[in-house]
Amino acid sequence: MIRIGVLISGSGSNLQSIIEAVNAGSIVGEIVQVISNDEAAYGLTRAAGYGISTKVVKHGDYSDRHGFDQELVRVLKESQVDLVVLAGFMRVLGADFLAAFPDRVINIHPALLPSFPGTHGQDQAFVYGVKLAGCTVHFVDEKVDHGPIIIQAVVPVLSDDSRDRLAARILRCEHKIFPHALALYCAGKLQIEDRKVKISGVDESVLENQFLISCPDLV
Ligand code: GAR
Repeated sequence: MIRIGVLISGSGSNLQSIIEAVNAGSIVGEIVQVISNDEAAYGLTRAAGYGISTKVVKHGDYSDRHGFDQELVRVLKESQVDLVVLAGFMRVLGADFLAAFPDRVINIHPALLPSFPGTHGQDQAFVYGVKLAGCTVHFVDEKVDHGPIIIQAVVPVLSDDSRDRLAARILRCEHKIFPHALALYCAGKLQIEDRKVKISGVDESVLENQFLISCPDLV
């Protein structure tokens, strides 16, 4: 059974979707530790409500990123974590952290990478005026929001959308693709080749002729 550590900074709605998938048996793994860099993160309350061990590691308590990363690694290793999941974790992890968990850190980003990396990806997409927004689950490498992509989902932008309405629809989509990507990982179905993630044992024929067009007249 894969031992999962989840890093959060905020509400933890993605964490909740992962907990539910674990409890439903669709992710064959166990969440053994939740860590937040912010003691006020509501995700800590969610985790504790399910009896999951929680810990606060405040980045402000460390003089540099290295010290912060080292403490995160220490806590995760103490819990014998195999896979680190970034579920709305708003700090950048350094090379030392990633070296401790090679190809074993997975992140969710609220935009279609490589477009709109960084913070508030869904807002960036809205302001830019894209017709198709979305979200991305990817392995983490040393560049921000850059590593091999596991799953993406497209969310059309509607003409009367507000930032909040679009962000809410993207978030609902995150709650679908994130647990699914983790289920695939835990089932040993993901393989990285030349930065491309191959998913074994899935029938892609359904996707072969699928297009998502942003103009309703054409659909
Ligand atoms: C999610 O939209 C997630 O994609 C985003 O933070 C939100 C956390 O929500 N992450 C990033 O922007 C990372 N660059 P949650 O706390 O309710 O899961």
